[in-house]
Amino acid sequence: MTYLFYLKSSNPHLLILPISFVAPSGIVLCDLNNLQDNDEIQHLCLKLCKGYNQIGNLAYESSDIEVALECYQVALTLCPSDHSNMRSQLLFNRGIAFIKNHDLDLALSEFEAAIASNPDFEKAYYQRERILYQIDSQSKNYHFTHDWFSRNIPLLTEHLKDMIGKPNLQFLEIGSWEGRSTCWFLEKILTHASSQITCVDTFAGEAYLNLEQNILENVESRFDWNINQVGAAAKVKKHIGESQYILRNLPLDTYDLIYIDGCHLAIDVLSDAVLSWGLLKKGGLMLFDDYDKVFPENPSQNTSIAIDAFIKCSAPEIKLIHQSHQVYLQKL
Ligand SMILES: C[S@@+](CC[C@H](N)C(=O)[O-])C[C@H]1O[C@@H](n2cnc3c(N)ncnc32)[C@H](O)[C@@H]1O
Repeated sequence: MTYLFYLKSSNPHLLILPISFVAPSGIVLCDLNNLQDNDEIQHLCLKLCKGYNQIGNLAYESSDIEVALECYQVALTLCPSDHSNMRSQLLFNRGIAFIKNHDLDLALSEFEAAIASNPDFEKAYYQRERILYQIDSQSKNYHFTHDWFSRNIPLLTEHLKDMIGKPNLQFLEIGSWEGRSTCWFLEKILTHASSQITCVDTFAGEAYLNLEQNILENVESRFDWNINQVGAAAKVKKHIGESQYILRNLPLDTYDLIYIDGCHLAIDVLSDAVLSWGLLKKGGLMLFDDYDKVFPENPSQNTSIAIDAFIKCSAPEIKLIHQSHQVYLQKL
């Protein structure tokens, strides 16, 4: 039996209490099972459903994940059966909250349910793909400490699908860290035996990340270990050092894809773009990470300054393919 509680109280905080706690402070208005066709009740249910969703969002933003999950669940109970878009949004929100709680299996089942409720819900497909990657990589013996990459997987999959399994592909990655992105490229795109990836990294990390000393130790050996888990060490050419020097010695017109995720100072992103543009084949893709990261107190660290300037300077030679957290350019 489902009850709807009509709150007389003007204190909105009451709403974030579990519904069982609300009961003494509210008035039991009706038994929904007997009143499913009543328009007024449906309208009220939808309003409460949206209210609980909003409170869930606020709780999520305040990192109160248990309360967020509970609010979304109550909202789902209140969601009228003919509002499938609202229902899938609530399931999606629960999925995101489960991710924050590191409950990947539960997150996956919420995204699956969101897709079942609304098969056009693209964001749910994106998240499902990301979770599948995380579950898969957890089942392997990788040594990763950070994940700055998996959020990009749905977008990369969409834009690189025509490259999957092609022979003789050459990728260049500036900034490999522990090899999470490198492993993904090797496992998902560079699957042909003749395809290769060149990785450039100091393996020293970046100051702005404020990483602890123990994380900064042995980055290169974690990279080597992870590449070995993919069984693809022979396809990886590793260059240790600063990209500003190493890129000058790499061959021109060689790479099908260049992934720029090294030093995030605008001046270095610009230098990586300029130096590697000549290394990219015509028709090849240049990808930048962290376009939307903003550092109000240190604007010279906003990669967008460099990426926008590079796009403006190279406009006749560039097709802008995508622009969000990542920027994708094609060399014409
Ligand atoms: C954000 S991490 C790369 C993450 C990786 N692509 C991934 O998705 O897992 C940035 C990397 O750039 C490297 N780096 C920073 N400045 C560099 C430079 N001037 N030249 C080469 N690598 C650099 C750091 O050592 C670090 O490993």
